[in-house]
Amino acid sequence: MGNVRLETKVGVPTADIPSMFDWKSDYAVNIGSIDAQHQNLFAIGRELHAAMCAGQGKAIIGRILDRLVQYTTMHFAHEEHLMQLHRYPDFAEHKAQHDALVKQVEAFQSDFNAGRSTMAVPVLKFLKHWLEKHIKVSDLAYAPFLKAQKVA
Ligand SMILES: [Fe+2]
Ligand SMILES: [Fe+2]
Repeated sequence: MGNVRLETKVGVPTADIPSMFDWKSDYAVNIGSIDAQHQNLFAIGRELHAAMCAGQGKAIIGRILDRLVQYTTMHFAHEEHLMQLHRYPDFAEHKAQHDALVKQVEAFQSDFNAGRSTMAVPVLKFLKHWLEKHIKVSDLAYAPFLKAQKVA
C-alpha cells in the first residue's frame, strides 16, 4: 500500500518543496469571504510554483502572474472596503502594507514581462512569507474587530 502512495509522487517536480503555499488552519481569520479569498491566493501560488517547477514558458507563467496580481488587488480592495465601512482604527497602516506589496509585485511583473527577471524560488518564497506574515499578524488583527461588527 505504501508503495502505491510513493508511486503517485514519481515525476512530481514540486516534491522538494512540498509545503510551499500549503494552506494551514492557523491562517483562518474565520470570516468566510476572507478565508475563501486567502485560500484562492494560496491556490494561485501553488499554480505558479508548479508551472515554474515544470519549466513552463514565459507566456504561461506570465498569465498566472497576471491572475495573481489581479486577484491580490481584488482581495485587498475587499478587505479595505470592509475596514473602511466599519471604521477599523488601523486601516491606514493596513492599507500601507497592501500598497507596498502591490508595488513590489507589479515591479516584479514588469521586470518579468520585459525579460529582466525570471520566476524563481526566491520570488515565490518572498510571496509566501509575505502572505503568511500579513495574514497571521495584520489580517488576524482586524478579524475580531470585524466579527464584532457582525461581518461573516
Ligand atoms: Fe488578506
Ligand atoms: Fe490584509
